[in-house]
Amino acid sequence: MFKITRSEELSQNEFDFWIDAPRIAKKAKPGQFVILRIDEKGERIPLTIADVDAEKGEVRLIFQVIGKTTAALSKLKKGDSLLDLTGPLGMPTEIENYGTVMIVGGGVGIAAIFPILKGLKQAGNRVITILGAKTAELVILQEECRQYSDELIITTDDGSLGMKGLVTEAMEQVIAREPVNCSWAIGPSIMMKFCTLTAEKHQLPIYVSLNPIMIDGTGMCGGCRVTIDGSIKFACVDGPEFKGSEVNWDEFISRMRQYQPEEQASLSDYQKAQVNQHG
Ligand code: FAD
Ligand code: FES
Ligand code: MG
Repeated sequence: MFKITRSEELSQNEFDFWIDAPRIAKKAKPGQFVILRIDEKGERIPLTIADVDAEKGEVRLIFQVIGKTTAALSKLKKGDSLLDLTGPLGMPTEIENYGTVMIVGGGVGIAAIFPILKGLKQAGNRVITILGAKTAELVILQEECRQYSDELIITTDDGSLGMKGLVTEAMEQVIAREPVNCSWAIGPSIMMKFCTLTAEKHQLPIYVSLNPIMIDGTGMCGGCRVTIDGSIKFACVDGPEFKGSEVNWDEFISRMRQYQPEEQASLSDYQKAQVNQHG
């Protein structure tokens, strides 16, 4: 069992948990993730290790409520436990001193980009961070990202915070202003695709973190199959980070949607059961 030691609601639909998991905390590196199961009836879901508290032996998970399992997870509180937590999984980010790096996080993807920007800053890079979300309330981890960034640019779709517009517009402004050696983007698939197109236009290397459906997380089930540079890869063991310019985005985006009817049915059954249980 893995105890939740701290829990906080970051926004209406986003939650921040710290979990007691000393063995994972000791090994985790930026870019890696865990697979968790709430209880014996629950499905397995992957979440990025957003941070580590090495002293306390805790890992931080930040998630958005999007369906049945994340809704059930959001009901847990400090002191509750998860049945399983497996990790760290996946290949870590290649953290080195590249010079100037541009880091783009969108929505809950900000949680996944945070350990990467922190690692890159600690490795001596000049870090320019761009955080984007629909509205001000959804720009999570602002102060923590600022702490490890030489410059922090915020964009919102509605202009309620920072610049009104898309992260790709902020990318263009930075690229026009100064040389950038490498970049990372994590967020919705469509955002990562357009960040890749923007970076490619300027011959800027870009890495993205793919989030296909994962089940076992060990390369056995094939659920997380993606096409990278024309070859089949499994995001759980070969990724989740890949070069953006090598991703077959159309296939990736269409595979992400393949179980939507089942996911919606499962969420609505869960919500009905909650109403019956709690009135
Ligand atoms: P469902 O209604 O079951 O599904 C909603 C959508 O979530 C689906 O359309 C699909 O796109 C995705 N999804 C569903 N099941 C899975 C699954 N088993 N594996 C992957 N995606 C799934 N989300 C966060 O909020 N924070 C994170 O830090 C984070 N890190 C991730 C890291 C990796 C490597 C991957 C692959 C995914 C990550 N996700 C993260 C996405 C998260 O796993 C899904 O949002 C979650 O599984 C949804 O479960 P659900 O039952 O609530 O929703
Ligand atoms: Fe099964 Fe990657 S999750 S192969
Ligand atoms: Mg689900």
